[in-house]
Amino acid sequence: MTDRTPDTADAAHDPAADAAAVLDLVTGGVVAQTLRALAELRIADHLAGGALSAEEVAERVGSHPRTTYRLMRAAASLGVLTHEGDRRFGLTGRGRLLRTDLPGSLHSLVLVQTSNAHWQVWKHFPEAVRSGSSQATKALGADVFEYYARPENAEEAALFARSMGDMSALVTKEAVAAIDAADVSTIVDVGGADGQFVLALMEANPLPRGQVLDLPHAVEGARREAGKRGLSDRFSAVAGDFFTEVPPADLYLLKTILHDWDDDQCATILRNCRSAVTEGGRAVVVEMLIGELGEPDLVTRADMGMLSITNGEERDLDEFDALFAATGWRRSKTYPVGGGYVGLELVAS
Ligand SMILES: C[S@@+](CC[C@H](N)C(=O)[O-])C[C@H]1O[C@@H](n2cnc3c(N)ncnc32)[C@H](O)[C@@H]1O
Repeated sequence: MTDRTPDTADAAHDPAADAAAVLDLVTGGVVAQTLRALAELRIADHLAGGALSAEEVAERVGSHPRTTYRLMRAAASLGVLTHEGDRRFGLTGRGRLLRTDLPGSLHSLVLVQTSNAHWQVWKHFPEAVRSGSSQATKALGADVFEYYARPENAEEAALFARSMGDMSALVTKEAVAAIDAADVSTIVDVGGADGQFVLALMEANPLPRGQVLDLPHAVEGARREAGKRGLSDRFSAVAGDFFTEVPPADLYLLKTILHDWDDDQCATILRNCRSAVTEGGRAVVVEMLIGELGEPDLVTRADMGMLSITNGEERDLDEFDALFAATGWRRSKTYPVGGGYVGLELVAS
């Protein structure tokens, strides 16, 4: 008897292919920084009119020609740029998502994922696993939302809000179609950032008044967005703390809120909504769901991100249902809302 892994497992393995796969995985950070450099230099915007040589791009963005060529060559091997020969590069479908001026742009998201806050905190990731909690406070001197609220981080906070808005664009169309809000009089978007979700629901439904509840630094952006859409007369933005209290509403929206927090904190937010909801009212939680274990899955990767930067986590449906049951809610409907997200509609239990 030896304690080796059985040979049957070895037989199915190709060590060279496995080594290549691990190298591919461990250079994920290089991939992220390559996307970041493309996004910071706004190279996709310069290629919007058609392919350009690396030297032409370097001249337009004020970067070094040789390193710009190397960056664009790497981006072509990642499927973000096309190589058209003669050191000329164009945009693929993925590359187009790095443009700043298109609906569905992921430009801000790329910058946020590689921004100071996120990158600083990743340095401490093994310690987060060892200790059971995010090391954001150690890395940033504050939890991530307090960090964003500091005046010196206003630009990073605005970028974060913009990236959340862009991600909202991926889900709002389907979510708005799925949510029956025709007869609702008040909708509160809990932690609603710039209000994209509630404002889209208001555009589709002329009756409801909408409100964003968020931290003080975030509410001005929501007011501006409502103004841009001509919805200011039915909209308000309140600075507050969803752990303390939420305003009364017939419909609460909680989009990518619960994944930021641990179970006890989620329970506080859900209980606050439950005690303020009007008779017969509802809540819609929008999140990604952890799927089958062991399958390739962006959500388990996002879960590592949540552990790193917040004390939150991605959850499976059973875990969400347990949270709802413990806080006076029952899931009454479930619908896909695009971008890999689902809507979990809740009524009082
Ligand atoms: C992940 S973002 C989601 C934003 C928005 N719901 C969306 O999906 O685009 C979390 C939001 O919660 C807000 N937030 C964090 N802590 C809060 C608190 N204690 N009270 C109210 N809002 C808070 C943040 O400012 C941020 O806008």
